[in-house]
Amino acid sequence: MFSSRNGILHVEEVDFREIVKKTGTPVYVTSKRLIEENIKELRKRFDFAFPLYAVKANNNLTVMKIFANEGFGADVFSIGELYLALLSGFKRDAVLFNGNSKSDDEIRAGIRAGVKFSVDSMDELYAISEIASQEGEEVEIAFRVNPDISPETHPKISTGLKTSKFGIPSGRILDAYRTALKLSNVTPTGIHCHIGSQIINPDPFVEEIEKMFEIAFQLENIGIDLEFLDMGGGFGIDYQNDGKCRFESFAEPLREAFEKGLERIESKPDLWIEPGRSLIANTTVLITRVNSVKKSYYNFVAVDAGFNTLLRPAMYDAYHRIAVANKMDEKVEEIYTVTGPICESGDILGRDRRLPRVERNDYLAIFDAGAYGFVMGSQYNGRPRCAEVLVDGSEFHITREAESIADLVAKQRIPEEMFR
Ligand code: LLP
Repeated sequence: MFSSRNGILHVEEVDFREIVKKTGTPVYVTSKRLIEENIKELRKRFDFAFPLYAVKANNNLTVMKIFANEGFGADVFSIGELYLALLSGFKRDAVLFNGNSKSDDEIRAGIRAGVKFSVDSMDELYAISEIASQEGEEVEIAFRVNPDISPETHPKISTGLKTSKFGIPSGRILDAYRTALKLSNVTPTGIHCHIGSQIINPDPFVEEIEKMFEIAFQLENIGIDLEFLDMGGGFGIDYQNDGKCRFESFAEPLREAFEKGLERIESKPDLWIEPGRSLIANTTVLITRVNSVKKSYYNFVAVDAGFNTLLRPAMYDAYHRIAVANKMDEKVEEIYTVTGPICESGDILGRDRRLPRVERNDYLAIFDAGAYGFVMGSQYNGRPRCAEVLVDGSEFHITREAESIADLVAKQRIPEEMFR
């Protein structure tokens, strides 16, 4: 869906320069067709599982609406994500409200919305029961279990280690369910787990499913029939090459583990998955304009997107492929370090990149920026957030306008006495 036509990057049928003329830079550009391809591939390989779209990966309403229309459920992690999910049309009974630190307001909003909860602590369990009684509602819950599994990924995105802040340790999980059975207005119907993100090896997922069935087996002994086992997301993509997720490499081992697990228990829970990155990362390119090129210790290309726009390289040393969007066919001539405009030395988008000769006012394309891209952006250094665009064939839509300088002050008030 990204191609070079006469050396100019096209997203589907659209010349990137047409977009930039309307939105300025930086701008996130998403291919609708690529989202649809990813969904098709996921459905083909994971026909034994029900997918919830992980809203945290990309909460652009138009993107979310595509997943809602395709019948996905939604994994939401805050009252804001809950609101966005309802607005974009996800069915309430297929929304799971996750999170390790939910406020009373968030719990009440989730209960009023009629969604299911992933419960991360006993404090949260008691609060849900109490607020649900006040509201006169029944709430379906799953406990988030901490399975103590090492997913072989970046430590900052490992979530199921025994040292992790998420979930209830598997050794205490039975007691948690026993307590839930005694409380009013809550009904345990599932188990929830998520071991981390950008995981390439399927083995930790297999181990995770086995641990969930071990718990499901014990839960049956205390009279709990499960409707779903939610193994979370985490399927990694190939950032080095094409940005795709090899769904097939996960699907068969997981199908086998799931079918084997079902033989151990009486009830027939559905398997839920919560993919984010694998569905949306490779669909989006970040276009940024070159402000300066200079020879220093390194050969620096300074662009107008920085870690305020795309945090992943600075935060996780993440690798994103970079090309010169208006010189796609020119031969590689130099090795560059691509930096942003932020006043920090860590504001580097890519190191040692082999690119054609880059000049001021060229455009760089940073690939696989659809997951944890815009959503992790900020206004640091007084820089408004950029626009987002969805390309559909030969048309494109601005799905989020760029912020303006006025947005930097939109919520600020200078105390009146300071004007005296
Ligand atoms: N479910 C739960 C409960 C999660 O915590 C996450 C991600 C997902 C699903 C989706 O995982 P995915 O399929 O996207 O791997 N900002 C980091 C990633 C943080 C992931 C947090 N949880 C990054 O840019 O790599």
